[in-house]
Amino acid sequence: MINDLKTSGTHISYWTNSVVPRMYKPLDKNIDTDIVIVGGGISGITMAYELTLRGRDVVIIEDGMIGSGETGRTTAHLTCALDDRYYHLENVHGKEKAKLAAESHNAAIGYIETIVKNEQIDCDFERLDGYLFLHPSDKIESLKKEFEATREAGLKTEWLDNVPGIGKESGPCIKFPAQAQFHIMKYLHGLCTAIEKRNGKIFTETHAAKIDEKGIETTGKHRVNANHVVIATNTPVNNRFVIHTKQSPHRTYVIGARVQKGLSKALWWDTGDQEIKGTAQPYHYVRMAALDDQHDLLICGGEDHMTGVADNDVPEENRYGRLEQWTRERFPVEEVVYRWSGQVMEPMDGMAFIGRNPMDSDNTYIVTGDSGNGMTHGTIAAMIIPDLIEGKQHPWAGLYDPDRFKFLSVGQNFIRDNTIVVRELIKGYAHHPELKALREVKKDEGRIVEIKGEKYGAYRDARDMLHIVSVQCPHLGCIVRWNNDENSWDCPCHGSRFTIEGKVINGPSNSDLSYYHFPEETF
Ligand SMILES: Cc1cc2nc3c(=O)[nH]c(=O)nc-3n(C[C@H](O)[C@H](O)[C@H](O)COP(=O)(O)OP(=O)(O)OC[C@H]3O[C@@H](n4cnc5c(N)ncnc54)[C@H](O)[C@@H]3O)c2cc1C
Ligand code: FES
Repeated sequence: MINDLKTSGTHISYWTNSVVPRMYKPLDKNIDTDIVIVGGGISGITMAYELTLRGRDVVIIEDGMIGSGETGRTTAHLTCALDDRYYHLENVHGKEKAKLAAESHNAAIGYIETIVKNEQIDCDFERLDGYLFLHPSDKIESLKKEFEATREAGLKTEWLDNVPGIGKESGPCIKFPAQAQFHIMKYLHGLCTAIEKRNGKIFTETHAAKIDEKGIETTGKHRVNANHVVIATNTPVNNRFVIHTKQSPHRTYVIGARVQKGLSKALWWDTGDQEIKGTAQPYHYVRMAALDDQHDLLICGGEDHMTGVADNDVPEENRYGRLEQWTRERFPVEEVVYRWSGQVMEPMDGMAFIGRNPMDSDNTYIVTGDSGNGMTHGTIAAMIIPDLIEGKQHPWAGLYDPDRFKFLSVGQNFIRDNTIVVRELIKGYAHHPELKALREVKKDEGRIVEIKGEKYGAYRDARDMLHIVSVQCPHLGCIVRWNNDENSWDCPCHGSRFTIEGKVINGPSNSDLSYYHFPEETF
């Protein structure tokens, strides 16, 4: 079943499954406000919270429910152990900025902790240690290098000879003390309550179809006129080109496994598969959450690949098996009870893009390039952008400035990802495996089919009904690919995704694929 209001794919995450979805009335008239925020994930909701705290008039526009984007699909580690490694950040941005990166992520964890306390949000927030250990393909030197770089960046990391809590890993690791975790949907619920208390307004099932410096217009033609516009849609939907050349979309996979209570609690990450080329080396990330009286849920993620390009010949839907094998080798798993995947935007130089939208009017702001640290990046955005709106300087603004561009320091992996984009744009229709007749599409399968000389995307559901869509992505025209795991049409260029009925579920496209209703016997 696809419930694109609830989440951005077929699978339902533990977070979305364990709380009642938070919905509000859709916008049904024109309104004026000071600040309009598009997007009801952690970035948009935290931003709205901070702005209402400062006494500003805020409206949130969300086209699904609260948390129905990537926030509802996260694993919710709150950490300053960054995906892109401090030694890499040091090389690209210099030592001072690597320090600012560490400071900002630590501050974001503290900011969340303070909100949880002040607003008395019951969201299972807890401080716990994190451990970074070597992936078998990586060398001990890189762990040592990372240890030194974290210390240089001002973190109180420690070198340990063994990885606490993981059976199979006997090698050394870096301990990151006092990291944190929480239940993201419970946290968002608490924030929404606090926003409403301070007169912030939230509208769900409301799609911002047009966005400009004066505000937004919904699909239903209602306007929100605003002095400031914040685009917190994970990847900006108001921008066709500039920012999308600076980041690349990656799919990432999660299993939730039932384990007996009593295992130690921590955050664990390995250093990632060094043999895979791409903006980011896929790594494993693990944590616990409470499941029932006798069990905890061990949540393990990894197996990333660029969206629409399932490399190593491992299709999307087979990634869970590999994840399960890896997890079972290290933890006493009883049964895998959850499977879901999501999308992260990998920035070219390891830091998110937070601030004024390049080549746009001065009152328009974006939050994107979250990588696997979007819980803290989204929170950092709520600490920076309100200051920019109020005309203040912020010490981290330069580090996260979306207008920065250091091509020489970007590295081979980012160039490789962008080469894939160019290849996809040029190759267009020619590349894709095609069928010549709709009858060849099997049940529960999506394929590109040629009908009267035109290419279409066709999916046949379990009831034998065909769902036919156009295949050219409305963003810049790349050809979408079928994702057999989340039952979606995914664009390999910048990560737009669409349901079987062509409805957009991930930007940067802000409009749908055409959906056709012609009967099969017509062809
Ligand atoms: C599997 C997985 C594991 C992760 N694990 C971690 C982790 O452990 N720690 C961590 O820090 N980060 C993690 N991340 C990253 C983090 O979850 C995300 O970066 C973060 O949730 C993004 O939040 P957001 O608010 O920016 O975007 P989203 O949550 O995607 O919110 C954007 C919202 O905008 C809405 N929207 C889009 N277009 C429109 C429009 N035109 N009109 C109205 N609304 C619109 C969408 O419906 C969506 O709800 C993980 C991500 C994934 C996928
Ligand atoms: S997302 Fe850019 S062309 Fe599809």
